[in-house]
Amino acid sequence: MPTPPDFPDLRDEVAGHSVAGLAQEFGTPVYVYDAATITARVADLQSFDVVRYAQKACSNIAILDRVKRAGAVVDAVSAGEIERGLHVGFDPRTSPPGIVYTADLFDEDALDLVVRHQVPVNVGSPDMIDQLGHRAPGRPIMMRINPGFGHGHSQKTNTGGPQSKHGIWHSQIDDCLHRARKYGLTVTGLHMHIGSGTDLDHLRQVCSAMETACRLVGPTVETISAGGGLPVPYRSDQSYVDLDEYFALWDATRKRLEAEFGHAVTLEIEPGRYLAAECGTLITQIRAIKRMGDNLFYLVDAGFNDLARPILYGAYHPIAVAYNPELGTPNQPISRAPVIVGGPLCESGDIFTQTEGGYVEPRALPQARVGDFLVIGVAGAYGFAMASNYNSKFRAAEVLLEGGQAKLIRRRETFADLIELERIPQ
Ligand code: LLP
Repeated sequence: MPTPPDFPDLRDEVAGHSVAGLAQEFGTPVYVYDAATITARVADLQSFDVVRYAQKACSNIAILDRVKRAGAVVDAVSAGEIERGLHVGFDPRTSPPGIVYTADLFDEDALDLVVRHQVPVNVGSPDMIDQLGHRAPGRPIMMRINPGFGHGHSQKTNTGGPQSKHGIWHSQIDDCLHRARKYGLTVTGLHMHIGSGTDLDHLRQVCSAMETACRLVGPTVETISAGGGLPVPYRSDQSYVDLDEYFALWDATRKRLEAEFGHAVTLEIEPGRYLAAECGTLITQIRAIKRMGDNLFYLVDAGFNDLARPILYGAYHPIAVAYNPELGTPNQPISRAPVIVGGPLCESGDIFTQTEGGYVEPRALPQARVGDFLVIGVAGAYGFAMASNYNSKFRAAEVLLEGGQAKLIRRRETFADLIELERIPQ
């Protein structure tokens, strides 16, 4: 199990690259991803038969390519994600399938792609069985089960229980088997993703619910998927889940099912955050420093259009100051003060240091100057992937750090990109 990384509040490099140098070469704000971290995180999970990357966490095609090179396959939740997988060369017809579509509905685009490219489907609603069966009878399918309870780092990321829209309700499995049989669809796998931020006690309940569901379906089940939800430490007092224990619980479940069914059962895991979060860092520049009453604000050029997790979930991201050598050496000794870090958007919630409910939470940070940089860590998962053009901001550049080199993997957007799809009718 990896040890949680240190995140000092003063740093001048990311994965061996100077922060100021990266900012100078690519501008700010910029997302940088350390390729070695992705590879290491896939390797951590090698005891599972299949590591299926939930690409919603960070879906740049260069990241998908490195995930592929590391030996993992992908999950897709939309037509766009299926296309990304195909584009990078994942083949849905291999064993294990290079792409699986997991969703609670098909839109027309996704259904067309699934049918055309024979992408295996993990159905999350009974209606999907009819829609797929009608278009592509006789296929194997998997079912995502909602066991009636869930877990999440925030109510918004809890994906089990009666308040969740995800998965097939556990008591409707029989009905779904009936539906599937009507179209000659065979249920060859079950999946449970109960939420992001799982702990081991919770996992015991999930494993037991999976076993019960598999028994209901019977020996056609060849694959079980543990879903995603593996936590990563965002704060220094958080840690990783014990991966050996995590695997042992799922492995024991799988072995009991193998004994009962008399054949091998493949065990998949479907992490997003675990593979992508720690590899990604958002570098942003301080553009203004001001006092409002007793509060000191550092205002930076990244906003919630770049990283939405704090405003959406009150999520905590570690933040460090990187001095800009062009401004000379800062005054010594360096003092620290409680600071609120905000962005450029015309909305008061555009604050990186906030807790759930929108309460600002000052953070002790080193003194800094206008022109210095802030390094926002553990930002690779659900960072750029949830970025937007709100306030007509151009989305940031993305850069891959690999083998001592920094390679642009998505250029910064321009005004031309922003209005490309818009038209003024005559
Ligand atoms: N599999 C399924 C079916 C999922 O719905 C998800 C996440 C995952 C895997 C990956 O979960 P992970 O390993 O990344 O926890 N935007 C939120 C997270 C939303 C997660 C949605 N589903 C955040 O920034 O925390």
